[in-house]
Amino acid sequence: MPGFVIVGMQWGDEGKGKVVDFLTSQADMVVRHQGGNNAGHTVVVNGKQTVLHLIPSGILHDTTVCVIGNGTVLDPEVLCKELDNLDATDCDYKKRLFISSGAHVIMPYHRVMDRAQEKFRGSKKIGTTGRGIGPAYADKADRFGMRFADFVDPVIFAQKLKDTLSYKNTILQQSFGEEPLDYDTILKGYSVYADRLRPFVADSVTMVHEVLKQGKRVMFEGAQGSMLDLDHGTFPYVTSSTTLAGGVCAGAGVGPSAINGVIGIVKAYSTRVGEGPFPTELLNGTGDLLRTTGHEFGATTGRPRRCGWIDTVQLRRAVQLNGATNIVLTKPDVLGVLDKIEICVAYEIDGKRTEIFPAEITTLAKVKPVYEVMPGWQRDISTCRSWDELPETARNYFNRVEELIGVPVSIISVGPGREQTILHRDPFS
Ligand code: GDP
Ligand code: IMO
Ligand code: MG
Repeated sequence: MPGFVIVGMQWGDEGKGKVVDFLTSQADMVVRHQGGNNAGHTVVVNGKQTVLHLIPSGILHDTTVCVIGNGTVLDPEVLCKELDNLDATDCDYKKRLFISSGAHVIMPYHRVMDRAQEKFRGSKKIGTTGRGIGPAYADKADRFGMRFADFVDPVIFAQKLKDTLSYKNTILQQSFGEEPLDYDTILKGYSVYADRLRPFVADSVTMVHEVLKQGKRVMFEGAQGSMLDLDHGTFPYVTSSTTLAGGVCAGAGVGPSAINGVIGIVKAYSTRVGEGPFPTELLNGTGDLLRTTGHEFGATTGRPRRCGWIDTVQLRRAVQLNGATNIVLTKPDVLGVLDKIEICVAYEIDGKRTEIFPAEITTLAKVKPVYEVMPGWQRDISTCRSWDELPETARNYFNRVEELIGVPVSIISVGPGREQTILHRDPFS
């Protein structure tokens, strides 16, 4: 059963959207299985940029079925805006977009709570996207959550909203000093979204299994990145879902045996949005140069992304956590402005060298990266379309990264466009 996972190997924004769009020509179904509209996945086709937050990045291919799985949390207002954007193009999604009845709905009180909690944390804030992701997942675990099936049933929705809102308003007012939210206003506004989204509700688990049973290829599109995983990331500076390949099983309703390969997406340098330790961060002119050359500003919030060198200690950990079978390297074209490129190969902790990623962030916060320096290629590689066309210095860099991470490079992306892609080895083999 040919299921493949696409997973971010760093702190998100590795270029997952671009790679999923590129590989969708070889897939029958694309499934989002975790996260919500904290994600911003950018796809560029024929020079036109589309940013997707909830809709799978396979949607721009005419025949691919796209599923928003049970493990996601979705904001109906944001989803309706995404549909508006697609309606303004010639993308016909109506018979091939499906939303799991088990996905959880982000309600206005989740967004208010997200921001109130961040304010409460003050200088210890996480730097969330403010989209209500954490509170929506917390409500799921707390069993106050609103499943998509409840949301699109007018009777159940009205009752559930009444019950939950009275509880939420008590907390918002008494614990956070926030204004209470109005039942009638939410009911009215959200009923309009429910009417629009009702046709898309589906038993996504059965759908995915049907496709797998026919021997067709399913791609599971991860959101965020490995270091933002709730269990294995840099807790508490993480998101609230399982971002690792293993999250596919619960988030899409398949067993591990349905997964044939795990394609890890690795940016040729590192970026992070929000707070939390980041060993190879460059708080200097080189970091600024990477940010401006790589347009490193959040696709969801517009915040500047923190930039640094590639970190192979962190990446080896991500390979373990995901069981990555091959990697796609993105954005090496950005490094073309540099005369030398550094690769973090080990950490020094209290004067001792280690190649192992520390389990706790108190230790991670004090590591000193050990770097290897390689010459830059100092030219534009965004027009290269084959491995042989790449400068030798660039190939040496890719080979060294591959060697240090211990997983083969399958694809090199040299620009945001679908066509700016070098197929080096088959990622599905
Ligand atoms: P995602 O969240 O992992 O899908 O990544 P984002 O879309 O948030 O951020 C990646 C950014 O880099 C987007 O603006 C992409 O259009 C762009 N991008 C993707 N691949 C490449 C590449 O190989 N080179 C360059 N220069 N830009 C790329
Ligand atoms: P994609 O899918 C980068 C970060 C936030 C914050 C932390 C928690 O585009 O790679 P949350 O709102 O999820 O509670 O925020 O996680 N974060 C991302 N960073 N890319 C993303 O998604 C992210 N989604 C969440 O900046 O640090
Ligand atoms: Mg992104």
